[in-house]
Amino acid sequence: MSAASKHERLQAWVAEMAEMCRPDAVYWCDGSRDEYDRLMAAMVASGSATPLKKRPNSFLFRSDPSDVARVEDRTYISTPERIEAGPTNNWVHPDELKATMRKLYDGCMQGRTMYVIPFSMGPIGSPISKVGIEITDSPYVVCNMHIMTRVGTKVLETLGTDGEFIPCMHSVGAPLTPGLQDVPWPCAPMEKKYISHFPDENLIWSFGSGYGGNALLGKKCLSLRIASAMARREGWMAEHMLILRLTSPEGRRYHIAAAFPSACGKTNLAMLQPTIPGWKCETIGDDIAWMKIGPDGRLYAINPEYGFFGVAPGTSYESNPMAMESLKENCIFTNCVLTDDGDIWWEGMDGDPPAHGIDWKGRDWTPGSAEVGAHANARFTAPARQCPCICPDWEKPEGVPVDIFVFGGRRAGVVPLVTEAFDWDHGVFLGATASSETTAANIGDIGALRRDPFAMKPFCGYNMGDYFQHWLAMGDRLGAKAPRIFYVNWFRKDARGRFMWPGFGENSRVLKWMCERIDGRAPAVSTPIGLLPEAKDLDLSGLDISPDDMRELLRVDVDAYRSEADSVEKHFAQFGRRLPARMRRQLDALRDRLSRS
Ligand code: GTP
Ligand code: SPV
Ligand code: MN
Repeated sequence: MSAASKHERLQAWVAEMAEMCRPDAVYWCDGSRDEYDRLMAAMVASGSATPLKKRPNSFLFRSDPSDVARVEDRTYISTPERIEAGPTNNWVHPDELKATMRKLYDGCMQGRTMYVIPFSMGPIGSPISKVGIEITDSPYVVCNMHIMTRVGTKVLETLGTDGEFIPCMHSVGAPLTPGLQDVPWPCAPMEKKYISHFPDENLIWSFGSGYGGNALLGKKCLSLRIASAMARREGWMAEHMLILRLTSPEGRRYHIAAAFPSACGKTNLAMLQPTIPGWKCETIGDDIAWMKIGPDGRLYAINPEYGFFGVAPGTSYESNPMAMESLKENCIFTNCVLTDDGDIWWEGMDGDPPAHGIDWKGRDWTPGSAEVGAHANARFTAPARQCPCICPDWEKPEGVPVDIFVFGGRRAGVVPLVTEAFDWDHGVFLGATASSETTAANIGDIGALRRDPFAMKPFCGYNMGDYFQHWLAMGDRLGAKAPRIFYVNWFRKDARGRFMWPGFGENSRVLKWMCERIDGRAPAVSTPIGLLPEAKDLDLSGLDISPDDMRELLRVDVDAYRSEADSVEKHFAQFGRRLPARMRRQLDALRDRLSRS
């Protein structure tokens, strides 16, 4: 045992889990480089990791073809009363779910080592940070947690003998009983996968998957599902948001937090390289924001994570140079193409594709192959400190003051490039009704239009109607110091199916308008759906975009929004009495404005 703790409750929980799972050994992680190197070396030796000649200390993994993304259908919010999980979450009673899972956990770590990972979400020792302890039988998970969170002995020291921790139980669900040969990516079949949360107990039980948010339990499970329930109880916010700092040519700083659904542009916006002269962007976080009201009454945001678990396909020097620069060393790549010269590749990378490579399923691949080389949800795991535009204040324990909230989604039609909310309640309405086409970040349909309120549909740890109410209550507390709220859509397509807005670095033009709006320096037109710029109000200098496209991107289609209002009515109906009356009034007001235009 390397770093075992003197914390009695922690010792008792680890002993209980070990008794249930029956691993060959229990190992306490110390978070050291040496530990990382040893685990990686063992995974290279066993054939589950491939070292990359072209990137120092970087490794490629290929998952089982069935285990490639989060599994929302198998994700549970387990509260004693079903109503507390609400209509947008899967629910099973805690007693029943635990009984089912105990049977699955019984002996599930035979032939494997049980790793105990003490980790901190947020800087170690910061008043906003939370400590989690993940138990896992996956060394791949341990190495990823080393990059994504702050792991190690220091965390145990801050816990002392009775500090609070969030128990995060994980197994890939593939015992190595005598005679069984291990596979490169062990996991359990879909019907045995469970990603379970017990928010009343601050407890996470995950079984059967080794991929991403299913297995790196500090991320969606702790920092969003459990943290959102804690945040509601304690009066703060845990959101699926990037955080960035934008600095104007005059040196004025703006902090922007933006919620887009999975694989809808957070990492890209967080690392934005403005195309407009003189503006600078720095990254604070790319996926999760924890926010508290500070002593001055403003809302302060921290990034609880320590790395990026980013979508690989589409990432290039052209679309996201700062991400590419972050990937030069010390990274883990999952489900990418392996090139013949020992590098990784994915669809959308700059330049020509390699003439030959090994695809994410381990087969020969050439540019003419029938299937893509990298899985659409292939990911990189990279230390945040390697990002050249990481903000010097990204680890500041008190966080940064948020000026602007942005919501959005992926909509080929209807939704304009940008809209400003009339006021806080209207902004909460825009968040509560956010819609997006589904992506490969979840196993299920791709491209299906759904409501994804605040980009939190898969991540809210309690009744979404109460979550809307929590947003309203936070606005009431913040009053005039509340961030201003905007809604964007980078994904509008024309009749030929091409993106109408160039996106990426050009999104700085839209952010600039937002900054000018909050400073009272830019005009907006009042429309039934909110405040919109005219094309002349956006800085489009040097951008090659036709006036017709711009008109279309900023057009409010009143008829289409009448149907949107009908669909919002259905969306709201599912919350019954948990829907705040103020949201109902927003829908009525929208309909009223639409009927008068
Ligand atoms: P998660 O990590 O799953 O939460 O996702 P994310 O929101 O961080 O997604 P990411 O930034 O990695 O975006 C993924 C996809 O969106 C990629 O295919 C990008 O190319 C595409 N994308 C991002 N920004 C833009 C944009 O401004 N315009 C267009 N057209 N595509 C974009
Ligand atoms: C997402 O799906 O929103 C992600 C990736 O950020 S995962 O960690 O797998 O949840
Ligand atoms: Mn995410």
